[in-house]
Amino acid sequence: SRPPASRPPVSRPPARPSTLPPRPAERARLRYIDDAILLVAPEGHIVSAEPAALTSFRGPILDLRPAVLIPGFVDAHLHFPQTRITGSASGPLLEWLDRSVFPEEARFHDPAYAAAVADDFIRRLLLAGTTTSVAFSSAHPTATDQLFDALHRTGLRGVAGLTLMDQNCPEALRLGHREAVPAMRDLIQKWHGKDEGRLRFVITPRFAPSCSRALLEAAADLADEHQLFIQTHIAEQPAEAEAALRACPWGTDYLDIYDRLGLLGPRTLFAHAIHLSDREWDRIAEAGARVAHCPDSNFFLGSGRMALDEPRRRGIPVALGSDIGAGRSFDMRRAMSHAFDNALCLGNRLSPAELFTLATLGGAEALDLADHIGTLEAGKEADFLAVRCPDHITTEAEILAQLAFASEESRVLRVYVRGAQVHPIP
Ligand code: GUN
Ligand code: ZN
Repeated sequence: SRPPASRPPVSRPPARPSTLPPRPAERARLRYIDDAILLVAPEGHIVSAEPAALTSFRGPILDLRPAVLIPGFVDAHLHFPQTRITGSASGPLLEWLDRSVFPEEARFHDPAYAAAVADDFIRRLLLAGTTTSVAFSSAHPTATDQLFDALHRTGLRGVAGLTLMDQNCPEALRLGHREAVPAMRDLIQKWHGKDEGRLRFVITPRFAPSCSRALLEAAADLADEHQLFIQTHIAEQPAEAEAALRACPWGTDYLDIYDRLGLLGPRTLFAHAIHLSDREWDRIAEAGARVAHCPDSNFFLGSGRMALDEPRRRGIPVALGSDIGAGRSFDMRRAMSHAFDNALCLGNRLSPAELFTLATLGGAEALDLADHIGTLEAGKEADFLAVRCPDHITTEAEILAQLAFASEESRVLRVYVRGAQVHPIP
């Protein structure tokens, strides 16, 4: 695998500003270091993050003060082929899929179009400071290959899958299991585990209404065979659950459809998860599955408020997703702000520290990647951002509030992956 471009030399750790690494053991408590040195080894791992006054390091440093260093954001749910239709969503889900999503996703049949959008997609992730993304591709193997290639060329960490659908969709997006399975095998062979494990293939049935039983079963078998994560949508809108149960009348509820077909397990990541019964929440917890909360999309499509307490009190890992293109922004700071609004609608106040943790370590934990990313602790990959806050923002509390609630007043100055600057291109 190819190392990402331009690593800082050993003797030039890329920072001497403040750092905000969250600690796994104390989810909502962060460690803030005023005037810190982040020491990065040449191969891209963090050696230490400590107060400058305590460091024994004597080499030259890259001084980024007064920027704040934070872990790169984790966007646990978004759609690559919806990059160019953000802002089109305001309407019920199923109608929006027919009207806006399917026609746009059909365009990814054209490799030239897919390549152009892949470049846009990567640029917008970088501008937002998202260093790990979990993406639905289109139903096209070539476009999915192009997405992986674009991630690979930039060095970004990415989990991506061919979007599976073979019913209730236009002919151009239909991919039966006989074609889908060999195409997925090729993509797994080519990309899964590449870039030292930074690229991963995820089995991606769009949702039950779009997939025949044969396709869902084939998806479950392939996930099992390769021990892959599975991502899909669940309980975003009531009409969707009705469509799912019309397609699979043998299911006792929406979750039961995925459960009986082998798609519910400890590596399943469900997007939205709004309209679920106690039974469904209990079963998700029992199975060890995870949830991607997509609050911006939920507001914009009128999907309803997600009760975060349900997964939290059951110990279900929760990540945050932009859900581009039903979400309106790639910026995970906007997602944090919408997560606050969502909780407030249900009478709960999430602290900026909790929101920040959701967009970093929470995402890493929900993807079983917390040993690699999500904080700026020693041993993890040096995926981090230098963020510039206005000069009057100086305390830990002010910085966290700024990150969560005032994204347009602070800028992502630089993005590093495995210690190499990838934005702006050096
Ligand atoms: N459910 C099935 N497909 C989609 C999609 O593309 N976006 C959203 N928000 N929900 C979905
Ligand atoms: Zn989605």
